Amino acid sequence: MDNEELELRIRPIGYIRTGKAEKFHARHQPLETESEENVLELVEGAGMREAIQDLGGFTRIWLVWWFHRNPGWRPLVLPPRGPAKRRGVFATRSPHRPNALGLTAVRLLGVKPGKLLLGPCDLVEGTPVFDIKPYIPAYDSFPEERVGWMDEVDAAMQQPPAYGVQWGGLAEEQGRWLAEEWGVDFRPRMAELLGRDPSPHRTRRIGRRGERFEIGCGAWRGLFRVEGAIVTVDELQAGYPRRFLNDPARPVLPDREAQLAFLVRWPECGVEGA
Ligand SMILES: C[S@@+](CC[C@H](N)C(=O)[O-])C[C@H]1O[C@@H](n2cnc3c(N)ncnc32)[C@H](O)[C@@H]1O
Repeated sequence: MDNEELELRIRPIGYIRTGKAEKFHARHQPLETESEENVLELVEGAGMREAIQDLGGFTRIWLVWWFHRNPGWRPLVLPPRGPAKRRGVFATRSPHRPNALGLTAVRLLGVKPGKLLLGPCDLVEGTPVFDIKPYIPAYDSFPEERVGWMDEVDAAMQQPPAYGVQWGGLAEEQGRWLAEEWGVDFRPRMAELLGRDPSPHRTRRIGRRGERFEIGCGAWRGLFRVEGAIVTVDELQAGYPRRFLNDPARPVLPDREAQLAFLVRWPECGVEGA
């Protein structure tokens, strides 16, 4: 049979509820230490109630799912890890694949009629899921294997950061205020990313903003300058526009209250300006 004729039609067996409205709310891979609870709602009928029988007792399952929010694919992609270097998509876990299938091993917390309760996930809200398989350590785990370019990147990460990162007057005051008043502190993560490489990078959410550069970190942004090997973050900004923050139809926005209070205190430090 000609390759062009080979096509597979598949239907979702369920949809995940993670509350992660935007792609950047979801981690690149699930973080096991997070105490997250997510729900996989199985489609009604279609034998799904029987199909999940006997899953109880497995503590982890594989989800095979669809990157349904991605319009196309790219043979070379820019992974978030390591230097700004494009890699063949099949050597990465990038969402931009020719067949946009995602694969995640998730903790199975409970089996209920018509739904599965799951631990931390890297899927956005409403992602269609096509298949579930039990995770079987004897078949699925080979921790000693080598991981190509990722080994090189990990070795480079052991080196000290290439750039020093400092906080300018306003950013310092804003960072302190967010940490003290709201317990929000993304500065260590921002400093880690900028210290490795502050050059523009789509997946690391670094871009140009006029004379300066901008980095996105969770719901927040930092504006910075680079002089030699010193990165100075001058200003922090709330990453969501006010119309989103004040919109009750968007129930899940990270750091919403902190962002609104921040914009009262620094009205000009938002994505729309004052
Ligand atoms: C790096 S991929 C890895 C996914 C999976 N663990 C894998 O290895 O196939 C995870 C990212 O996919 C994105 N993502 C999650 N659900 C998506 C969806 N339904 N459509 C498009 N992108 C999605 C999120 O930005 C998340 O950070």
